Amino acid sequence: MQKYADKYLKLDPWRIIEEGFDSERCNVSESIFSLGNEYMGVRGYFEEGYKQGEFIGSYFNGVYEETKEAAALHYKGIVRDTHFMINSVNWLYTRIYVDDEVLDLSSSEFDEYRRTLDLRTGILNRRFIWKTVSGKHVKLDFERFVSMGSPRYGCQRIAITPLNFYGEVKVVMGLDFDVLQKSSAKKYWTTIERETLEDYIYILGKTSFTEQKVFSASNISSDSIYKSNVIKNEDFIGYELIINGSQGIETKIDKVVFNYVEKTKEIEAAEVIKTASKLVNNFDNICYDKEKEKHIDYWTKVWDKFDITIDGDMDNQQGIRYCIFQMHQTYHGEDPSLNIGAKGLTGEAYNGHTFWDTETYCLPFYIFNNPRAAKNLLEYRYNTLPMAIERAKQLDCEGACYPIATLNGKEACSLWQHASLQMQPSTAVAYGVFHYVKLTDDKEFLYDKGCEMLVQICRYLATRGDWSGQTGEYGYFGVMGPDEFQMMVNNNCYTNYMAKKTFEYTLDVIKDMKNNCPAGLSNLVQKVDLLDDELQAWSNMASKMKITLDKETGIYEQHEGYFNLPHVDINSIPVEEFPLYNNWSYDRIYRNDMIKQPDVLMFMFLFRSEFSEESKKVNYEYYEPRCIHESSLSPSIHSIFASELDKHEEAFSFFNFATRMDLDNYNRNTNEGLHTTSIAAAWVNIVYGFGGLKSDGDKIELNPSIPKVWNSYSFRMLYKGTVVEILVDKTDVRASVIEGTEVTINVYGIDYKIDKKGIELGIPGAARG
Ligand code: BGC
Repeated sequence: MQKYADKYLKLDPWRIIEEGFDSERCNVSESIFSLGNEYMGVRGYFEEGYKQGEFIGSYFNGVYEETKEAAALHYKGIVRDTHFMINSVNWLYTRIYVDDEVLDLSSSEFDEYRRTLDLRTGILNRRFIWKTVSGKHVKLDFERFVSMGSPRYGCQRIAITPLNFYGEVKVVMGLDFDVLQKSSAKKYWTTIERETLEDYIYILGKTSFTEQKVFSASNISSDSIYKSNVIKNEDFIGYELIINGSQGIETKIDKVVFNYVEKTKEIEAAEVIKTASKLVNNFDNICYDKEKEKHIDYWTKVWDKFDITIDGDMDNQQGIRYCIFQMHQTYHGEDPSLNIGAKGLTGEAYNGHTFWDTETYCLPFYIFNNPRAAKNLLEYRYNTLPMAIERAKQLDCEGACYPIATLNGKEACSLWQHASLQMQPSTAVAYGVFHYVKLTDDKEFLYDKGCEMLVQICRYLATRGDWSGQTGEYGYFGVMGPDEFQMMVNNNCYTNYMAKKTFEYTLDVIKDMKNNCPAGLSNLVQKVDLLDDELQAWSNMASKMKITLDKETGIYEQHEGYFNLPHVDINSIPVEEFPLYNNWSYDRIYRNDMIKQPDVLMFMFLFRSEFSEESKKVNYEYYEPRCIHESSLSPSIHSIFASELDKHEEAFSFFNFATRMDLDNYNRNTNEGLHTTSIAAAWVNIVYGFGGLKSDGDKIELNPSIPKVWNSYSFRMLYKGTVVEILVDKTDVRASVIEGTEVTINVYGIDYKIDKKGIELGIPGAARG
């Protein structure tokens, strides 16, 4: 794979450390040091400002603006109105002055720079010594966190120590709506009000089209400020503070910010201020240290339960903890109206949109670490079912077509070939319901909401597909599978296979409801006018689904005609030509057998219990050399296959990109934001790859192996209410219950009852690793 690491962060098992600052990496580091709590996220930008190329990014989950394209040429079904996540209030705004010189690391002299993100506590620190033009030295220590304990709160602390002088230091700390979207350099906010009250200040901004509102309030506390007043301008309100600095004495300023979002257009600004002001009165009870304690407590509980340890490989130990940290802070099930963007809340690339990545890559993480979050992600799809129904109509279909990219449930992808031809978001939702229910037994969700989604998805699948005039088989014509390098193909194997499974699963669920929840079923039948004929038709479509398999070789053909495509030797492509989408003309990418990401391998992974090792082997060996991994979601799936096929070095080599995709900037675009959903794939890689987990069958199966360079590793899974730990070393696999009751897990083909005492399975991992 043509990827190489840019290693500049210090290795540490629990911390991400940047020592010394390189302006070339400014935006990469801003992404890496991003903080969030599902409700909001901030990039790791310097709060005091950095004039040369800073990328200030402060986002609220689900806060967006819309664009409306002129209808010059309007084809039905092509998306013209799109929406995108917007950069919002800079609630960390700070300026620091000494003798009228303003601190800005792009021009100021500084020393002993160090930035540290402590994954154990979720606290970000940055410290350095500022050397002013007049020769004064000031030690500055910045600390911030986005509270996991109270979702609307963000906290910032600045500690200032004059090192060689006595005198004034001026600090401005405020709330700034004068923010531009990085990608378009446009401003999307109008400030409606900014006000000073007795113990806090606030500002309210509103977007133009969506008329969403963000209310941001802050108070400041410090015992050594001797002068303070409030300053305002059009889009800004802040405190100006003067500190009477004494040599060697540290002054701390604490800022607690309360951010309140109102997404409903119709709710007027005055109403928002009223509601938010009632909530903000909590400032009386909220202080920096108390909030910090709550925040750290949250993280302690996360790590106590769900850590992954790797002994013998610091790169991946640090990497996987970083991934786990990002997953929890991006989403943890606070609010079912929220979802996970491909870049989380760390940048504007992919417009903050949610993709099929959620159900395929992120959901397994949440099912095994935080089932409430997993459920909420599916609730989000249920809540947006009406938009998916509307979208199917736009595409001349029935039922529900889930969007390829969205924030609010409506299709927001303006590239018609993706928005109209990719069916995988809909089958991913069905797969998500199947996977979640299988592992949690949450039948209530299935009967109440899951089945309704399944029925509507089936209707879409039944009206989007067609019967071949020649063979009498059912299939999908004019589609694009997950491999986005093959556009407008017929009978993409992934699409057909997933549709078949969706039909079959839905029919099973309906049968189950007939027996176990007849009242629920009859409500559903009435609600959606479900006819027996439809069920019959789905069953017929499933059984006659075209799945192109070359019987002689055992290779599934990615789509009709794929085997005839001109072959490209991907190793002959010069490394400078990657990423190809920047260097090859768009249509050139589509004319050969090179693939962007797993397609056949993808459905074989999702239903891995259903394919023999031999079938996986021939398909992996055929498709792997054709895949250029232009999607960061790709290497992990290959690593999982390689592991299962005992190609351990290959498995490890693919895995190396997974945990450190962003820390080492493998794709050269971490500056735009983190690859949040690929970060989920890193967890999937360890647990499904080296752990050998199969979770799509009747029981949980594990087949652990261990990479040669590791002495041992362990991971934990929450399974049916029990936290199980699997520890693998060179000679043994040990399973034990950490919390909960006894549970049965199949390891290397044998069922074991596992309890708190734990059990040595006595299987030499080294032989397989
Ligand atoms: C991949 C898609 C993915 C999207 C967002 C694209 O590059 O091809 O499969 O959904 O990125 O992560």
